[in-house]
Amino acid sequence: MQQTQHPSKMRPLDEYDISVKTGFLPPTPPLRRLSDPYFAPWEDMMDDFNGLLLAGKLREKVHKMPLLDYSKLQLVEEYRRAFLILCMVSHSYVWGKHEATSETLPSNLAIPWTGIADHLGLCPVVCHAAVVLWNYRLLDKDGPIDLGNMAALATYSGSLDESWFYLITTAIESSGAPCLSQITSAIDNIEQGKYSELKQNLETICSALASMNDDLKRMYEKCDPYVFYWKIRPYLAGWENMAEAGLPLGLIYEGVDSLWNAQTDEYADMSHLDEAERLLNQYRRYAGGSAAQSSLIAALDVAFGVEHHRTGEKPSFIKAADLPNDRYTKLPATNPADEINNGAETPRTPPRFKRTNRNTFLRAMRKYMPRPHREFLEDLEEAANIRPYILQLQENDKNGSITLEELEIVSAYNECLHQLKLFRDKHVQIVTLYIVNQARKGPNIPHGGFAIEKQQQQQEQQQEHLEASGQQQPQKIDKVVSAKPSAMHNDLYPQTQLETQPGIRKDSRTDKVSQMFPQLGLARKLPSNAQVVRGTGGTNVMPFLKQSRDETADMKICLNSSSSSKDDNDEAQAKSQQPTQQEAKTSWSDWILRR
Ligand code: HEM
Repeated sequence: MQQTQHPSKMRPLDEYDISVKTGFLPPTPPLRRLSDPYFAPWEDMMDDFNGLLLAGKLREKVHKMPLLDYSKLQLVEEYRRAFLILCMVSHSYVWGKHEATSETLPSNLAIPWTGIADHLGLCPVVCHAAVVLWNYRLLDKDGPIDLGNMAALATYSGSLDESWFYLITTAIESSGAPCLSQITSAIDNIEQGKYSELKQNLETICSALASMNDDLKRMYEKCDPYVFYWKIRPYLAGWENMAEAGLPLGLIYEGVDSLWNAQTDEYADMSHLDEAERLLNQYRRYAGGSAAQSSLIAALDVAFGVEHHRTGEKPSFIKAADLPNDRYTKLPATNPADEINNGAETPRTPPRFKRTNRNTFLRAMRKYMPRPHREFLEDLEEAANIRPYILQLQENDKNGSITLEELEIVSAYNECLHQLKLFRDKHVQIVTLYIVNQARKGPNIPHGGFAIEKQQQQQEQQQEHLEASGQQQPQKIDKVVSAKPSAMHNDLYPQTQLETQPGIRKDSRTDKVSQMFPQLGLARKLPSNAQVVRGTGGTNVMPFLKQSRDETADMKICLNSSSSSKDDNDEAQAKSQQPTQQEAKTSWSDWILRR
């Protein structure tokens, strides 16, 4: 298909690393190996990856791995493969399997990972691009990119459930690929007054969205919610809001002796800092992998002008103040040193607001998209003219001057929004089953097989504390130590609170730093009556996701001339059944606090 130069300041799609055929997926399947023997230590690690993790030998093997010079990578495809490898090995190193969380990432992982991430315009943390866009192979190389023809290149758990989880999302990216060229074409068609072509653009987007919905519905087929929540998701966690898992300041990227600036994406020299400050500056806090980092869904939102607000601001019956402090309402600084420099424990300023997206979390997710895809969204925000045009048609309707063709365009626009809303409906159901219900039920084995040591370690600390304070009570301690470890909550999961009881290990570096910088307030404990959700992270996510879904439906255009469709009627009925402001507020806060 020929690429047109867009008068609307958009560059041709391939300049944003977008393929007309495969969308945000690369035009050819990702590399399965780095062929340069220099990188054999990384590929060898991948050959034995799941086995090493299971045997508890991964950290040992990493310590023996040489520090490789990532600048020897040449093609972007090689950078992507290397990024995937380092995401796999680094997250497994940090979270382990039946091992205590590591607060440091050794330099042989941290240095190349940071450099490669910088090259790709990403953060050194697992992200949607790594495990979805660059993590599949085709069984029949001439066949389509669909669920009947794909396998995942790498998984943390070694399970088919995890492969399916990634591949469903890859399939969605593939089904949604036609949307991108149709969006830019629609923008051009509006500028050039080619309205019948515009209608076709919208219809093609609509059918692509319907296929995406079909893919999403298949998540249940081969990804077991229990396996997802307890065996897969912990590895996808980042190091932001992970105080309970022992990373209140984030993760130390050893040897990455530089200060990263999120705004300029540059590194500053740290030679002027004293040792304590240098130590603090080695911490980084990044959110974990999430399909919220999918540029495809974000592009559809921007194209259709879906307005996302700060969580709690809309719909008006949930107030931000009624929601707990979590990743969906506030974000901590990437580097904990910023909290000291700015003299306050304030969340980092949300990225610059442009047009439609004011949601702090959704905008922050753009930092975790490859640079060219992020730039595409930024340029699209400037160029997007579909909704303004549709609003103009609504005006024509009010004046009684709307044509039949214009009515059909509005209807096609509404149908696209309806499909996107259905996507978010299904997504809310999936999150309820895969996260909220699993968190509520708890694991079958203690901590789902994670962080058992943490409890043993807490018991040891408790004993040390009693010994130090001369209150040794051997009988009582024996009882505690011999008790079968029980599941209190999943330490690896929370990811939601900014303020919680940090699981800082005694004599760890984080312990030292927290003493050096008491102003960070890490010793603070929550009062026992604090009204925050503890331990069942997923619960906080629901107000955010439901708001995002409702904001999509709210964008539909009502016309006087067209008789309301069945869907509109359904929605009107659903709206009439919505609780009153006061009822909703009470039920939401009840719902949150009950967990
Ligand atoms: C088992 C399957 C899934 C689970 C448990 C899940 C969970 C979540 C959660 C917890 C969030 C909130 C953000 C965060 O904390 O990361 C989220 C957001 C999001 N997810 Fe998923 N997700 C799943 C599958 C998918 C798939 C297949 C897609 C397709 C691209 C997707 C797209 C999104 C998007 C776009 C958001 C941002 C919110 C929005 O735009 O409405 N998710 N998801």
